[in-house]
Amino acid sequence: MNKNVDPKAIKTLSEIREEREDIGRNPSANPTMGDIIHRRYSRRGFLGGSLAVAAIGATVSPMALLAAKEAKAQGTASQFNFTEVEAGVDETHHVADGYDAQVFLRWGDKVFADAPEFDPANQTAEAQAKQFGYNNDYVGFIPLEGANDRGILVVNHEYTNAELMFPGFAKVEGDDVKLGEYTRELVDIEMAAHGGTVIEIRKVDGRWQPVLDSRYNRRITADTEMQLSGPVAGHDRVKTNADPTGTKVLGTINNCAGGVTPWGTYLMAEENFHGYFSGELPEGHREAENYKRIGVPAAEYAWGTFHDRFDVSREPNEPNRFGWVVEVDPLDPNSVPKKRTALGRVKHEGAESIVNKDGRVVAYCGDDERFDYVYKFVTAGTFNEQDRAANMDLLDEGTLYVARFDEDGTMEWLPLIHGEGPLTAENGFESQADVLIETRRAADMLGATKMDRPEDVQPNPKTGKVYVMLTNNTRRGADQVDAANPRADNAFGHIIEITETDGDFASTKSTWEVLLKCGDPSLAEVGASFSPDTTRNGWFGMPDNCAIDADGRLWVSTDGNNQKATGRTDGLWAVDTDGDARGTSKLFFRVPVGAEMCGPYFTPDGETLFLAVQHPGDEGLATFEQPATRWPDFDDNLPVRPAVVVVTKQGGGKIAA
Ligand code: FEO
Ligand code: CA
Ligand code: CA
Repeated sequence: MNKNVDPKAIKTLSEIREEREDIGRNPSANPTMGDIIHRRYSRRGFLGGSLAVAAIGATVSPMALLAAKEAKAQGTASQFNFTEVEAGVDETHHVADGYDAQVFLRWGDKVFADAPEFDPANQTAEAQAKQFGYNNDYVGFIPLEGANDRGILVVNHEYTNAELMFPGFAKVEGDDVKLGEYTRELVDIEMAAHGGTVIEIRKVDGRWQPVLDSRYNRRITADTEMQLSGPVAGHDRVKTNADPTGTKVLGTINNCAGGVTPWGTYLMAEENFHGYFSGELPEGHREAENYKRIGVPAAEYAWGTFHDRFDVSREPNEPNRFGWVVEVDPLDPNSVPKKRTALGRVKHEGAESIVNKDGRVVAYCGDDERFDYVYKFVTAGTFNEQDRAANMDLLDEGTLYVARFDEDGTMEWLPLIHGEGPLTAENGFESQADVLIETRRAADMLGATKMDRPEDVQPNPKTGKVYVMLTNNTRRGADQVDAANPRADNAFGHIIEITETDGDFASTKSTWEVLLKCGDPSLAEVGASFSPDTTRNGWFGMPDNCAIDADGRLWVSTDGNNQKATGRTDGLWAVDTDGDARGTSKLFFRVPVGAEMCGPYFTPDGETLFLAVQHPGDEGLATFEQPATRWPDFDDNLPVRPAVVVVTKQGGGKIAA
């Protein structure tokens, strides 16, 4: 056991939450374009083309309201056919009438036939490594042989809530929850509860069930052996005492959203990895500035106390081996997952990919931090539909771009290529590996646009548009407002719609507009911009994940609706993007108190919707003994368990068609 971190010094939950607001802030001097909104709306000709829509999104004019009302009267309404759920807060979930929501896989459920039964009072790391992990975030479905009723479900387990997992570990003291002392076993259970689950599922007699004896089933944890691949593999800055080759990493952590590639692999995005590292870098270490830019070490977990690799005083290069997008082949449970370094090292929210019309593959990524950036990666090679094996290393070679959103509604994707522009040795970038290890600093130098926490970025194959979820940024001052981040003190977030030129997802010059400014539209000071057809249930804040369904329609899930302030939980909303109903949103599903809504993912036929209910009951002072809800167990002997929920239409058929 290492001595650099006193287990008693592990931070309280409120300290952690406070610090999360401060970590890794962007110190670069990129212009904030403070008066852009003014300039934009005073520009001659701004009412033409795409700018007109952006302007209406910003301030709904009486003419627009009238037009929308007339359109409704003429029956040009939402593309979504369901009766809205009532927004609110209670102990359980709610789905639209006529749909079934089945709590499908919960934390602790068996992933293998020989896994032990869930026993919360006697947890072990060994048991957890065979059971469904904690805090399910990304969910993807990979059909087997093209079927819609048989496939592999892939699920990220983003992080752990010790206070909600371990009986007696946390105590409520006044206005705070104090965690107890960590032991090696508790840390190892946490590590086994991270990572991902790969599990075959089937629909039998209309009901989905896991196939526990499937050969595909796999748990990936913070200990699973992985390979660093791409330009950074083998570089000195990723070599450690345990791995002098700089190619072999143990585990993946804080996998938030992700993606399924066109060749059926599973992408796990490593997001807030900084929190797992503790200790102090050796004096004058070359990674000091690099780590400061990304918030390492934040000591939110006690892992460094028991595992040297999470202590930067002992393994100072280890944090450079996290912050990547990991690719897993779900068809081969013995395959070594690969950390695809060509996609850059940031706090990756997700990695949603699409085959471009020229055959190259484009993956979109958000870097979830206040004032950080939106990226896309374009492969050098092309997708081969006939030969799956030929695609397996496509993500190792290509160009990473970062987005600059300009005030006139155009944008440029700026390439992060070593030797080009400022990305040279004089600025500390000796090679492409340096550019990728310090992706944020490289993007700072290129003048990328500082965004309001970029989350999921989703291309729509039906329309050539791309949707960027920007969850919030209450740190944006009035002098930092710009066209793409139009509100100071942005508490509710917004959604940007990118139109890639001529449907070319590899395009470097594109256009964009604000689809929605989120929040309660009945409060003028919030400045929300939902269409007037949106009901009091239909508005939302804090867009986080999203999905495009089989019909090219947008669904948005949220994280962080302040339930006390807004009187509503997070949930899943269906959002019209086209026609007269554009900007109309309807509530389809809502989570129990304290939870965040993740997933969402549809089967290709649009008949099954997978959702992830993350950290139910995580309402500040809730602990194992004092949960805010019993969902989904309603049994006094069990803790609250995060779970994947499967939604189907009663009697069958497409969802919301
Ligand atoms: Fe884990 Fe960006 O949410
Ligand atoms: Ca997220
Ligand atoms: Ca998504």
